[in-house]
Amino acid sequence: MTVGEYEHNLTLSEGELELYWTIVNGTARIALRGHTTGWISLGISPVRYMNGSDMLVGYVTGSGGAFVIDAYCTGDYGPHPADLDLHGTDDLLDRNATEVGGWTTVELVRNLTTADPYDKPIPEAGVVAVLWGISPSDDIVTQHTRYGKSSWNTSGGTAPPRRRHRRRPTAAGRPRRHRGRQRVRVQRLLRGGDLQLHWKVKEGKFHLAVVARTTGWVSIGLEPSQR
Ligand code: HEM
Repeated sequence: MTVGEYEHNLTLSEGELELYWTIVNGTARIALRGHTTGWISLGISPVRYMNGSDMLVGYVTGSGGAFVIDAYCTGDYGPHPADLDLHGTDDLLDRNATEVGGWTTVELVRNLTTADPYDKPIPEAGVVAVLWGISPSDDIVTQHTRYGKSSWNTSGGTAPPRRRHRRRPTAAGRPRRHRGRQRVRVQRLLRGGDLQLHWKVKEGKFHLAVVARTTGWVSIGLEPSQR
């Protein structure tokens, strides 16, 4: 990887992990650079916890070789076998891994969409949920020491912040004083505060605000039996 080689970048894990990418001609050229001599990984579009994410995992072997796989997480907390082991396909068009000064860089090229059910689409210009993990070990069965979730805005720019509301969520049922002495309740719905509901009842009317960590659409469905 050379300076300026990739068009965009995103800093993760408090600066311990960097994601670089360029999207061109239907392909994503991706570099993940992490402060470790072990494995680093990016997981695209998890369904639950780690489950269902399209994982790209790589490290530099003890003999200096590059190990980079197109993998898929089949359980809530792993495992994440190679797509090939799931009878899918290896869709990396190019791959490399290098290690310099205690930092590992994994680079790969993939089509934005593939025919493999174990690959998740990468939007040409849009936001997708990602996971990341860093381990000091080259053994990809050994759990990460750092991990997290983020939004990846492939068109660049700043991803929506992970937590827009830094204050602690109000305990259910405990009213919080708000502007104009209105009573507002806050409830965090999903792990990590990806979606929040803010509401108040005033003069017989229900006021609702939904705050979500996305620049795309957001929706809630009311209890079907109550419609
Ligand atoms: C086979 C290797 C792995 C094992 C054994 C493993 C195991 C686990 C375990 C036990 C947790 C729960 C930790 C806790 O709640 O304190 C967890 C959470 C998590 N892991 Fe992994 N992991 C592995 C690989 C990965 C990889 C490759 C990634 C990134 C692409 C990743 C990303 C995450 C994330 C983001 C969470 C938090 C999920 C959530 O709470 O919603 N893991 N992992």
